[in-house]
Amino acid sequence: MRIAMIGTGYVGLVSGACFSDFGHQVTCVDKDAGKIAALNRGEIPIYEPGLDALVASNVKAKRLDFTTELSAPVAEAEAVFIAVGTPSRRGDGHADLSYVYAAAREIAGALSGFTVVVTKSTVPVGTGDEVELIVRETNPSADVVVASNPEFLREGAAIRDFKFPDRIVIGTADERARKVLGDIYRPLSLNQAPLMFTDRRTAELIKYAANAFLATKITFINEIADLSEKVGADVQEVARGIGLDNRIGSKFLHAGPGFGGSCFPKDTRALVKIAQDHDVQLRIVEAVLGVNDNRKRAMARKVAAAVGDSLRGKTVGVLGLTFKPDTDDMREAPSIPLVTGLLDMGAKVRAHDPVGMEQARRELPDIEFVDDPYLCAKGADAIVVVTEWVQYRTLDLERLKRELRQPVVVDLRNIYRPEDMATHGFTYESVGRRSLLGH
Ligand SMILES: NC(=O)c1ccc[n+]([C@@H]2O[C@H](COP(=O)([O-])OP(=O)(O)OC[C@H]3O[C@@H](n4cnc5c(N)ncnc54)[C@H](O)[C@@H]3O)[C@@H](O)[C@H]2O)c1
Repeated sequence: MRIAMIGTGYVGLVSGACFSDFGHQVTCVDKDAGKIAALNRGEIPIYEPGLDALVASNVKAKRLDFTTELSAPVAEAEAVFIAVGTPSRRGDGHADLSYVYAAAREIAGALSGFTVVVTKSTVPVGTGDEVELIVRETNPSADVVVASNPEFLREGAAIRDFKFPDRIVIGTADERARKVLGDIYRPLSLNQAPLMFTDRRTAELIKYAANAFLATKITFINEIADLSEKVGADVQEVARGIGLDNRIGSKFLHAGPGFGGSCFPKDTRALVKIAQDHDVQLRIVEAVLGVNDNRKRAMARKVAAAVGDSLRGKTVGVLGLTFKPDTDDMREAPSIPLVTGLLDMGAKVRAHDPVGMEQARRELPDIEFVDDPYLCAKGADAIVVVTEWVQYRTLDLERLKRELRQPVVVDLRNIYRPEDMATHGFTYESVGRRSLLGH
């Protein structure tokens, strides 16, 4: 099968590389000439575990290539995937569809022969109808079907998620398009992944409903964490106790500093707007957004409380900046409001992240970046764990304590055991568990 992937970001590059690994012939297209030049030099523009080897082997096998020129790959393709960004529109929280519509226009002009245009980007209900209108207006004679195929991969585990998905959702009523997409994903049905065929609007809504549900689950356990702190319970035990119930499940029940990332915040905001446009109020999702925003801002106050007095003139070391481990993605990371809050309170901030520092520098220009977690702690009045990178779990706690001016650890991901922190004499604050405050 010949595939053109329009947009070579986190989703486009992973999807393109995996499709080529299934044996399809894939061309990844992007407007960003720097990105395409890097890929053509064999460099991967994002950090995603295993992606470099997967791209290299498929390029070598001549099943995967990269270009800024959309026309030829689209003309040759049986399926053209749109995987461009759909960020929050500045000012109102609606999904910004300008990249999707621009891509649709360009694709339309280049179509040749029967082609399925597939929206993989996360788009509001009805976007497929608009893409179809654009394509038909731009190229009335094109033999084309517009389908929806939302993507559910997680950054940091993207290749595994793509190759072993819980389900693949395909939204189109057209039999020819169902056959093309069924053939593209056939290798996955051998992995027992259910292929769910539905209509286009339902497929579009499934993606938003899934993300809103997961964001709600995280926010629910975060509020239970707040209550656990007040009543002297341990939220990790609560999460285990409820998660063992199959109806609830244990995933996405980790209390923390609030959700961030490239999807949950923008997709929950967009879903609320989609509902408003249809005279429906999604009160639960609205509450989730409000609770999560407040929570992210509250984390700086949690640090100040652990340090015991004003943060003015104090140095705070921040461990982990990306929105989660195993990615370099800083989009809407909880570290951003946390660091901004600390700076507002007069603290100096020093930070470390294993792979995200280059991206973080653009978001957080007023802080110091260091290459080593112990350097981050040197002479600091507190260390704050914001992203649970595996290397932070195994830090030498004695050494960490020696480096700190005051032995204060604020663990926003609950990666340490309170007993161990007590043994080492730390003032230790975590999320939804008893504090070990030394003052
Ligand atoms: N990142 C994730 O974990 C994830 C997971 C599931 C779904 N999604 C959805 O997938 C979509 C893409 O997300 P992403 O994180 O990969 O975005 P991204 O910003 O990493 O990549 C988008 C790419 O599209 C390119 N682009 C924009 N317009 C173009 C055009 N007309 N022609 C060619 N290239 C163009 C950009 O240059 C950029 O490289 C979004 O709708 C997102 O919500 C993302």
